[in-house]
Amino acid sequence: MKSSLPLVLDRGGSGPLHLQLAEQFRAAVRDGRLQAGHRLPSTRDLARELSVSRAVAQAAYDQLHAEGWIEGRVGSGTYVADVVPLQPVGRPRARVAPAPEEKLLSLRAGIPYIGGSPDAGWRRAWREVSAQLPPPGYEDPAGLPALREALAAHVGRVRGIACGPENVLITHGTIHGLRLLLAVRHRPGDRIAIEDPGYVNAVVAARDHRLEIVDIGVDEDGLLVSELGDDLASAYVTPSHQYPLGGRLPVARRNELIRWARRTGALLIEDDYDSEFRYDVAPLPALAQLDLDRVVHLGTLSKLLSPALRLGWLVASTEVIDTLAAYREESADWLGWPMQAAFLAMLRDGYLDQVIRRNRRLYAERRNHACEVLEPYGRVIGQDAGLHITLVLPDSLDDRVVAARARSAGVEVAPLSEYRRSVPGPPGLVIGYARPGHEELQTALRILAQVLRELG
Ligand SMILES: Cc1ncc(COP(=O)(O)O)c(C=O)c1O
Repeated sequence: MKSSLPLVLDRGGSGPLHLQLAEQFRAAVRDGRLQAGHRLPSTRDLARELSVSRAVAQAAYDQLHAEGWIEGRVGSGTYVADVVPLQPVGRPRARVAPAPEEKLLSLRAGIPYIGGSPDAGWRRAWREVSAQLPPPGYEDPAGLPALREALAAHVGRVRGIACGPENVLITHGTIHGLRLLLAVRHRPGDRIAIEDPGYVNAVVAARDHRLEIVDIGVDEDGLLVSELGDDLASAYVTPSHQYPLGGRLPVARRNELIRWARRTGALLIEDDYDSEFRYDVAPLPALAQLDLDRVVHLGTLSKLLSPALRLGWLVASTEVIDTLAAYREESADWLGWPMQAAFLAMLRDGYLDQVIRRNRRLYAERRNHACEVLEPYGRVIGQDAGLHITLVLPDSLDDRVVAARARSAGVEVAPLSEYRRSVPGPPGLVIGYARPGHEELQTALRILAQVLRELG
């Protein structure tokens, strides 16, 4: 059916007729077929031209009128309004179909094992959450009060930090906690010490906040504390298991670090990302245990359960916690309730402890296997804890070349140089052994060993 307007009615089309008409009208204005000022037929004429009821024509005009596409002029009819059509920005580009996922076996560090199916403890926690209604409004910006309390008890028991719920802030993970701290307790231009080699995401966070990063070397025991200058606002450290080399900061250096912070007024940021997994002796108590006025402690569920849960905790003096909570409230940076409630249930139920015990056994076996396979090709370090080891390679090898060769052989692994900034050191590979299943791990290690053999 044709009309004096460029409208064609498709009775088999989808949606009510008046909306179809309105949409065709809009399209005609947008692409210039209908110009501003063009006089429109009356609803009676339009209805006749299109063989629709007058009510349909009227409804289409009402809709267009309400949206501003047409306007009535008293005594002279209805016209196309002066709508300057937006120039189309071009068709949204069709998404390039992702290349068929290369089937890489991943030995990237830092991802825990998630295998099998959800176990009873996991299901219990979520059942408990689903039996409750969420809180009615915005809650405490520091996190669910009961969870803060349970976490204070947890870090007291497993990390030796004597604290109460007022010292705990729930976060979306380590990096979220770090970024909050950088936003609230630092100013652009402040100097922050970061281990070199060290955690890339911490470096990125400091750069984003326009801090000046001071690279401090590490040896196989961890941070070289004696290299810290007096003009630093803070130092970000991984004392339990230096990332990525794996050193455990000995007591003498911990004390030296605390003395340095007290003397200079700097803040120590302790990233305690995987201390639950130690395979030789119990972990040393956290640095925060020594002085909660100078140390901010960051914990995370990312290594215990999964990074996908986005849940962590920050333990600090009440002054730091209150400032961070106020900042979060101002910036409407609220945490979701369900994950906090589920984590609370997991803590109360002993589920978290159960997973840690189970995975510690599992990871110890995998670590033994990884060490055994890789020892002939370099020096394995950092094997006493965590979810990864580092294989220090002979100086003659370029670790990026090794990683690239491994990749073309189907195995993803990080070169140690990816973690280095200005402090030189030998080449190496950082190898995560927790994430793959048993057989996958065996295959990946076999391929990696083959690559290393070929490269001599
Ligand atoms: C050194 C270090 N800290 C912390 C994390 C975890 O960060 P988040 O809790 O933000 O997931 C990782 C993860 O790979 C890490 O390697």
